[in-house]
Amino acid sequence: MATLKDRIDGLRKTFEESALEAADAKALEELRTAFLGRKRGHVTLLFEDLKSVPAEEKGGAGQLINEFKEFVQGQLRTIGEKLEPGVRYGAGSIRTKSKFAAAGTVVPGTVVHPDLTLPGRKRYVGMRHPLTLFEEEIERIFLGMGFTIEDGPEIETDYYNFESLNFPPHHPARDKWDTLFIKGDLLLRTHTSPVQVRVMERSKPPIRIICPGRVFRRETPDPTHLPMFMQVEGLVIDEGVTFANLKGTLEYFIKALFGEKIKVRFRPSFFPFTEPSAEVDIECLVCSGKDPSCRVCAGTGWKEILGSGMVDPQVLKNVNIDPEKYSGWAFGLGIDRTAMFAFGIPEMRYFYENDLRFLRQFGAK
Ligand code: PHE
Repeated sequence: MATLKDRIDGLRKTFEESALEAADAKALEELRTAFLGRKRGHVTLLFEDLKSVPAEEKGGAGQLINEFKEFVQGQLRTIGEKLEPGVRYGAGSIRTKSKFAAAGTVVPGTVVHPDLTLPGRKRYVGMRHPLTLFEEEIERIFLGMGFTIEDGPEIETDYYNFESLNFPPHHPARDKWDTLFIKGDLLLRTHTSPVQVRVMERSKPPIRIICPGRVFRRETPDPTHLPMFMQVEGLVIDEGVTFANLKGTLEYFIKALFGEKIKVRFRPSFFPFTEPSAEVDIECLVCSGKDPSCRVCAGTGWKEILGSGMVDPQVLKNVNIDPEKYSGWAFGLGIDRTAMFAFGIPEMRYFYENDLRFLRQFGAK
């Protein structure tokens, strides 16, 4: 048995060495004959010799030879596939090529021989959408500061979108969020603030969350407005949280996103759910304030990217958080609009047109 095994090992080595050199169909056929040839093939001879093996060793020896035969057949097939896809080697002899196929004509039922010198077919691998890439960048920065990510429904009730956020019914402040109503009490959320209310309802301070998502407003499309866009809102509630925390955190965030040198300004503003409130502008990265006719910043040199403020005590009361004990701040940022600046895109609509010439420029990061 040991000698049979040695013999097979030797043959296997010879086979492997010759296989490396088999560069065309002819060489492969020679290799097949040398090993599987009906009269003098090595494998055939091994089976021949099996006849003189004592009966009790026959089973084991036969198995070794069979395994080797399968190995040789398998290898021939693999090499053959590489040399000429579709042609079978190993079992029988090589199929003769059709003369049409050899001339490059495709004849049904025959083997096609591709030109092996042609470059392979490229398979296009997709990638993430630029808005997703940008959202993930924002998430990374906040995750690094200990925030967690929350999600909520896109179809909301009037209560979560407005009333809990301190907009009484018919209050004129609602006009700023031109709303797409569905039916009765249901509407498409105009901001991601309702997610914050839902989180405050179900958890106790300290709270440190961001909630990215899609929002909807009845807007006429222009370079920086669309009826559907992406927002990320953030909320911090704890004891002793001040406006200084809001400013420091947002400044850190904007610099992490746009670089140390970006110019940022806080401007007093109004939101029913925050008091005091501030809007944050960054310098216009499209014209750097130099183009009085810039369509993105309207020649002001600044572009508002987010709204923020200290959470109004009434909002805390609405969710049963004691405003005497806790305070907090919140912000809401337009992802699309900010991504336009980050990537230098002059038109928000590009994000939603699904034009691959645009989308492919963002590569697989
Ligand atoms: N929800 C506001 C908007 O959509 C943004 C905002 C969030 C402002 C949190 C202040 C605090 O415009």
